[in-house]
Amino acid sequence: MADRPPLRLGVLISGTGTNLQAIIDAIESGYLAAEIRIVISNRPDAYGLERAKRHRIPSLVIRNRDFSTREAFDTSLVAALRGQGVELVACAGFDRLLSNVMLDAFAQRVMNIHPALLPSFPGLHAQKAAFDHGVRFAGCTVFLVAPGVDDGPIVVQAVVPVLPDDDEERLTQRILAQEHRIYPYALRLYQEGRLEVQGRKVRVHGASEIDTALALVNPPLP
Ligand code: GAR
Repeated sequence: MADRPPLRLGVLISGTGTNLQAIIDAIESGYLAAEIRIVISNRPDAYGLERAKRHRIPSLVIRNRDFSTREAFDTSLVAALRGQGVELVACAGFDRLLSNVMLDAFAQRVMNIHPALLPSFPGLHAQKAAFDHGVRFAGCTVFLVAPGVDDGPIVVQAVVPVLPDDDEERLTQRILAQEHRIYPYALRLYQEGRLEVQGRKVRVHGASEIDTALALVNPPLP
């Protein structure tokens, strides 16, 4: 499986781009066999664009405001991604809902990351929603995008505890640290051809670090 060609990625961002950075770092360290063909932001001031520039990755701003419909915006995204030969689209803090124009063009080839244990707390401000709800465990989810808000077959999740003296910011940072681990991992599983979508479920073939993680998070009760 290791001899599969590098994954041709397109990354969609809207903001800081720390997940983009985690993907770049994973590629540069040799953990992930991939090449980011293009970074696209819908916001010209997204700091993630600087990150792309610093690593000499081509980038493009396509402002959703310049389009009258979601479909027209997505048509432009699809053209840019196809123009660069992108195989898999990775949303990394991209703040627009994707229409069927994108989801049909890249069927089961759009990934996203969300800072909650889906299907709990979809949508904006997920960390605050989980914190305010008083959950004992929070986390993050990488999934294959389906129509709807933060919905689709789940690829990888990571769990973090909510600690007694947490505030929303501390919890957000603890979740983010896990995002930066599981997004490159999920992309690596894809690149290695180890993901098989079966309806709502994603089977991961081969030995999985997820099992180890689960054993650590959920030790046997006394
Ligand atoms: C991340 O926490 C990501 O999970 C979240 O936006 C942040 C982007 O940070 N995405 C969503 O909430 C999607 N519903 P980044 O720009 O530093 O990667």
